[in-house]
Amino acid sequence: MQSVAHLVKVSVPGYLSELPIPDTFGGWFRLGFKDWLALVPPTALAAGVGYTVYRAYCPKARVACSGRTNKIVQLSNPKVVDTIDVEDISEKAAFCRCWKSKNWPYCDGSHANHNKETGDNIGPVIVKKNK
Ligand code: FES
Repeated sequence: MQSVAHLVKVSVPGYLSELPIPDTFGGWFRLGFKDWLALVPPTALAAGVGYTVYRAYCPKARVACSGRTNKIVQLSNPKVVDTIDVEDISEKAAFCRCWKSKNWPYCDGSHANHNKETGDNIGPVIVKKNK
């Protein structure tokens, strides 16, 4: 426990007090290469901690950055399953494959924005009745 106390009370404050952080805004422009190099580790550590906390406590970030395909449809369900009777389809129906439709499971054209933003080429699946 004594080593933790020494780390928190002596080592870390000593390390931080030695960092070449200027007193004025203009001082940032007068820093040398070694000064900038000394600032890399604490900056990387602060960015890593900040990003980890952001990912851990921001639910939107968890969904957005999780690699999931479905980011809006029935998120509280463990599995999204839809059943549609073929008899209920009049002539044809367009079903969403991009998981962005606000009229799930039908396509509402949201794939167009998705394709524009990402360069993807997703479109709906169209089910037609034989004549
Ligand atoms: S809205 Fe998803 S495929 Fe059209």
